[in-house]
Amino acid sequence: MNKKLEKIKEEVTECTNCELSQTRNNSVPGKGNFKSDVIFVGEAPGKNEDMHGEPFIGIAGKKLTIALENAGITRDEVYITNIVKCRPPKNRIPTVTERNTCKNYLRKEIEIIKPKIICILGNTAFNSLLDGKEIIKFRGKIVRKNNQLYFLTIHPAATIYNQKLISVLKKDMKKLFKLIEEIKDGKEIKINIEYTS
Ligand code: URA
Repeated sequence: MNKKLEKIKEEVTECTNCELSQTRNNSVPGKGNFKSDVIFVGEAPGKNEDMHGEPFIGIAGKKLTIALENAGITRDEVYITNIVKCRPPKNRIPTVTERNTCKNYLRKEIEIIKPKIICILGNTAFNSLLDGKEIIKFRGKIVRKNNQLYFLTIHPAATIYNQKLISVLKKDMKKLFKLIEEIKDGKEIKINIEYTS
């Protein structure tokens, strides 16, 4: 692993910056290939992740793996992390304060990995990173903000309760990895939403 990421992992593991540190079993640092072209960003760890200290290893994680594999990608090839690194009690949505307290970790992960694109998984990441809401209306779209590309898709957990959504997630993953190839080939990318600040 990359030394700088290793350091962040240690910081996350020992973090007591917010109240979630008092109820967690394990904090959950990002995991995966630090040379990845893409970082996947979810909301916060769930029960399984909290037990084992690894992101997306529960049912939602299995759905993500299925959609990645359908696009010919294994989990080891990519980097997966969350907005908030500790499980909120009863899986509630992390508060704005919790997200803000945690955001430096994600900022550093992005700085080190320098992904060609960040894949936003679901509403909490959409809201935290791009101030967006109702991702279902924007999924499949490409966003550029401060020279960083983002790809928007649904949270894999959404496919647990609505089976029809697995085909949506699969379709989006195929689009994402085709897009990454195009970026690498130097092709012009059609940006759907441009943030100016
Ligand atoms: N849901 C998330 O948003 N992140 C995880 O790591 C697991 C489930």
